[in-house]
This record gives sequence, C-alpha cells and structure tokens, in this order.
Amino acid sequence: MTKSAVSCVVFLSLLGPLGSRHAWAVDLQAGRLKAQSACAVCHGLNGVSSMPNAPHLAGQPEAYLVEQLRNYRSGKRNHEVMSVIARPLSNADIEGLSAWYSSMRVNVETP
Ligand code: HEC
Repeated sequence: MTKSAVSCVVFLSLLGPLGSRHAWAVDLQAGRLKAQSACAVCHGLNGVSSMPNAPHLAGQPEAYLVEQLRNYRSGKRNHEVMSVIARPLSNADIEGLSAWYSSMRVNVETP
C-alpha cells in the first residue's frame, strides 16, 4: 500500500461467519474496482475527496451510502452529477461500492 498524507487504511474484518464473509469479500472487491474506475476522480482513490464540492466517502456508514446512492438513482435525492452517475448502478454495484467505502478506516486528528 502506498503511503498517503491522509491516514486512511482499509480495514479488513476477519470476524463473522464464513458464508457472509465470503459474500462480503466478493462485494468489496467488485466495489473497489468500480470505485477506482468510476468514482475516484472526484471522491479520491482512498475515499478522501480531491474536489472541494465532493464529499469524502471513506469510513461513512454502509447503510448511509447505500441509501444515498439509491436515492440518487431513484430521484429522491437530486444532484446534476450524482444523479447521472447513480442511474446505471445495479443493486450489486451499490452494495459493493458502499461496502468498499465503509470498510475504510479514518483517523481524525483535532487541533
Ligand atoms: C464528477 C465528480 C463525481 C464522480 C465521478 C462521482 N461523484 Fe459522488 N458526488 C459528487 C458530488 C459533487 C457530490 C455532492 C452531491 C450533492 O450535493 O448531493 C457527490 C455525492 C456523493 C454521495 C453522497 C455523500 C454524502 O455524504 O451524502 C455518494 C454516496 C457518492 N457521491 C458516491 C459516488 C460513487 C459511488 C461514485 C462512483 C460510482 C461517485 N460518487 C462518483 C461528485 C462525483
């Protein structure tokens, strides 16, 4: 892993039953690949946004990310960029992307 100015590492949980762990790992891998190709330009490779108007996604709760992406896709939440990006996403895409970003661990330092 490359060193990053921002302390953000991927946290791989080894807990949980074998079956769900496998399903989770598959989602995570697909999410990582999709995120690199479709989201990193604005939300950063490590989920820390590189654009002033795009929010950080690293470490956000999985359920929250799933809900926001579904809302952009359905039109319940509207944004000129994200609505277009979310429209073609499948449920599996949304689950994988949300699993990937929520698996990142963020360290916050206050002054
Ligand atoms: C061209 C830049 C751009 C790309 C590419 C992009 N986003 Fe976004 N994203 C934004 C902006 C700007 C916002 C803020 C939108 C708003 O105000 O609702 C946003 C918001 C979000 C949010 C809501 C976050 C929150 O805190 O509520 C999620 C989730 C999200 N993006 C996920 C993704 C995913 C997953 C991808 C790839 C499939 C992606 N984005 C690709 C620019 C982008």
